[in-house]
Amino acid sequence: MRFSIEKYLKEKRTAIDSTLNRLLHSPRKYPPIIHQAMRYAVFGKGKRLRPILLIAAAEACGGKASDVLPAACAIEMIHTYSLIHDDLPAIDDDDYRRGKLSCHRKFGEAMAILAGDALLTRAFEVLSQMKASKNGALQAEVISHVARAIGTEGMLGGQVEDIRFLSSPGQAQRKKRVAYIHSHKTGALINVALKVGAILVGASRGELKALDKYGTSFGLAFQITDDILDKKEKREITYPRIYGLKGSREKVKSLVRNAKTELNIFGQKGRLLKELIDYFVQSRI
Ligand code: IPE
Ligand code: IPE
Ligand code: MG
Ligand code: MG
Repeated sequence: MRFSIEKYLKEKRTAIDSTLNRLLHSPRKYPPIIHQAMRYAVFGKGKRLRPILLIAAAEACGGKASDVLPAACAIEMIHTYSLIHDDLPAIDDDDYRRGKLSCHRKFGEAMAILAGDALLTRAFEVLSQMKASKNGALQAEVISHVARAIGTEGMLGGQVEDIRFLSSPGQAQRKKRVAYIHSHKTGALINVALKVGAILVGASRGELKALDKYGTSFGLAFQITDDILDKKEKREITYPRIYGLKGSREKVKSLVRNAKTELNIFGQKGRLLKELIDYFVQSRI
């Protein structure tokens, strides 16, 4: 039977959601309000892109989805925390997320801040409890990569630059800033998701290097696509505002081509990752 990407995604999303359901505390657990807010934000219309990439990377390196599901869910918890905080009035002030009211609009600002904190904390608890990694050194390596990717050298650094208003910066400075913002606020987490999936199943150095290049191109292409498709506030620095729509689309196409070339070392096993970048990026612009 012909491989269907839709069917693959559906299967993986079901597995991810049931693992998230198991890993998140019951909505009745004391104090219930925080567990309800965490679940509310996690279980919306999320694409589950990062956990799917983590699983696909593990599979490309010869591993099984079941070995990496808790790690994949930890990454989705971190992503959800970043979205909750991103939507807060002090940051992007967005009322809707994942097809419904944003967490702070539903639960209030204080509880949304705490739900973000709680998801981030729970993610590291889950990573530290992974049974799949029999090798403690490997687990420590994974935790350190994740922490670094989402800290001030990674996602947080990108968020900081994204909200910092600079009055009339020059064109060269704008290009540098957008490259920094996109590779950090979006690229870093996508990249580390692939890395974690690969490391946990014992990928080779060559495989890790190829996935790193694929992830860097994927992250940038994904954020440019988001810039093209989503309405952005005037103050936000976006790719089309600097390079124009045509230039942005061309950039996405060339990033997709480069990303696919990096996968050649995987042979047939790289096919799924190629399909994923087509599905989540190429086909959307
Ligand atoms: C939104 O990410 C934020 C960005 C970094 C562009 P997604 O587009 O993956 O959001 P969900 O997880 O599907 O809601
Ligand atoms: C969100 O970027 C990035 C993080 C949450 C780290 P955006 O602010 O551009 O994404 P949307 O448009 O709110 O999803
Ligand atoms: Mg933002
Ligand atoms: Mg936003």
